[in-house]
Amino acid sequence: MQTNYLMNTEEDIAQAARLLQAGEVVAFPTETVYGLGADATNDEAVGKVFAAKGRPADNPLIMTVGDVEQIAPYVQITDQAKQLMAAFWPGSLTMILPIKEGMVSMLVTGGLQTAAIRMPENEVTRALIRQAGFPIVGPSANTSGKPSPTTAAHVKHDMAGKIAGIVDDGPTQVGVESTVIDLTAKTPTILRTGAVTQEELQKVLGVEVADATSTKSIADDQAPKAPGMKYRHYAPDKDVYVFDPLDWDDLQTKLGENDAVMADEALLKQLKNADQPSWSLGENLNQASENLFAGLRFFDDVPEIEKIYVESMPEIGLGKAYNNRLAKASGGRLFQGPESE
Ligand code: TXA
Ligand code: MG
Repeated sequence: MQTNYLMNTEEDIAQAARLLQAGEVVAFPTETVYGLGADATNDEAVGKVFAAKGRPADNPLIMTVGDVEQIAPYVQITDQAKQLMAAFWPGSLTMILPIKEGMVSMLVTGGLQTAAIRMPENEVTRALIRQAGFPIVGPSANTSGKPSPTTAAHVKHDMAGKIAGIVDDGPTQVGVESTVIDLTAKTPTILRTGAVTQEELQKVLGVEVADATSTKSIADDQAPKAPGMKYRHYAPDKDVYVFDPLDWDDLQTKLGENDAVMADEALLKQLKNADQPSWSLGENLNQASENLFAGLRFFDDVPEIEKIYVESMPEIGLGKAYNNRLAKASGGRLFQGPESE
């Protein structure tokens, strides 16, 4: 299949909308990561998304909308959903809501009686969805199991020849996927951490919000989880190790010439070997999240590189989402500092 490379011009957005209307798959930008779009009301089109990603059929998809009215026919908009929409939409929050009986394809929900909905911040994409005239499914535009794409070039790498178009609106800003909150559980429950934090959600809802991704909830296994959480994710082909910035000096003595490091600007300034392959995570948590997947993808494609060592971040705010994606990418591998030897 020939992939059309489209820009953020009116003409290109109109062409992307026509491709979606014809039942084709088009990758779109959001503020978090790039997504793979297709008409959520057309099973044949949705099937093409699963095929392009190599995604297991029991992992449900997000319905992505351009405005709030667009989702009303499909899901029950609860009072809590209204409060969260007012506070965080458009933005990096996906809500799980009860579907209106028979209104959403089983392919989209994976057979569940609930659906995930999100309105991204990106203006180009919202214009695209409004023009198309239907909600689009929007899983991240990576091959299943690989790090999510934060540039159109990443999408091209994974999807060239497999989808009809890619709309390029530059690099994404947040860099990790949206927060997923389940509003069908008795206690609203975070199924995936992201830029919208537990504290912010609690403040708006005025009730306790559970976090199913925290070790405590996983251990007691009470909360329902996003089906997607059971799959290995964000994993490059190379071995990834997480290191604590406190172990930086020790790590430096152990790096081989084929090992890459991903660390913040301040640490990289103290890198002793100027030839060590390195990737800057920037100067703060936001920049680290923005740069994480791009660095993993970059080193994955450098044949000489054997291992990738990535700095962990403080468990606050966006740091929780960053550390969660990094833990999955590394499969839990940690660099053991001198303390533990
Ligand atoms: O930031 C994002 O959310 C990106 C951009 C492109 O919008 N999209 C994205 O989609 O990350 P995806 O499909 O890769 O992740 C959606 C997550 C999966 O873990 C899936 O299992 C979960 O949401 N999910 C979808 N529908 C669900 C449902 N009805 N109940 C529970 N979890 C659901
Ligand atoms: Mg994904």
